[in-house]
Amino acid sequence: MALTDKIAPSILSADFARLGEEVRAVERAGADLIHFDVMDGHFVPNISIGVPVLKSVRKVTSLPLDAHLMITEPGKYLEPFAKAGANSISVHEEVCPDIPAMAAQMRKLGVRASVAINPETGVERVLAAAEHLDMILVMSVHPGFGGQEFIPGALDKLRAIRRDLDRRGLAVDLEVDGGIKVENIADVKAAGANVFVSGSGIFGHSDYAKIIAAMREKAARA
Ligand code: DX5
Ligand code: ZN
Repeated sequence: MALTDKIAPSILSADFARLGEEVRAVERAGADLIHFDVMDGHFVPNISIGVPVLKSVRKVTSLPLDAHLMITEPGKYLEPFAKAGANSISVHEEVCPDIPAMAAQMRKLGVRASVAINPETGVERVLAAAEHLDMILVMSVHPGFGGQEFIPGALDKLRAIRRDLDRRGLAVDLEVDGGIKVENIADVKAAGANVFVSGSGIFGHSDYAKIIAAMREKAARA
């Protein structure tokens, strides 16, 4: 199933004191989505940014905002994030007892429905609910921090998910998040991912346009 490749810079690695400029810079540099990491200090051992920041970011870009909720009670916050301008929301499988119900709630709010799985989480529950989802997010690091090493086990998971989606004829986006760089983007593309989150892999370089173009080219050739 041919899905468009999308490069999604994670603003967790941006300079928060200059967040508006950073978002505009990656937009000019050719980003397809802005990945927005929300952490509550419970689901993950870190705290990041939330609804008011997303609302401000909404004003400086026309790119879709891809909210990744690393929080224990995502259902409570779907509406505030949707109202603030999120275009897609990923909730974690580990804290989502009823995936079809959560997805229905997201779609009703007008956002694309996505579920994320941690490195130690199996693919069964997200696949069982795949027809309710617009995207599946495979974590390739333990969530909570930018700048970690890619966990190679994510490749098998991406392959298993893509194989099953193709077999069922489901055009669901498959996003990969954690440790994605120019050096390994071809591997995750070949394994079936088509949405590539990269934080330090983009914001760690001075020329965002050059790095995003290099990622896009590597993914296209994979
Ligand atoms: C990790 C976040 C990621 C993070 C990725 O918990 O979900 O989106 O920003 O950062 P890098 O690309 O540096 O691994
Ligand atoms: Zn993320």
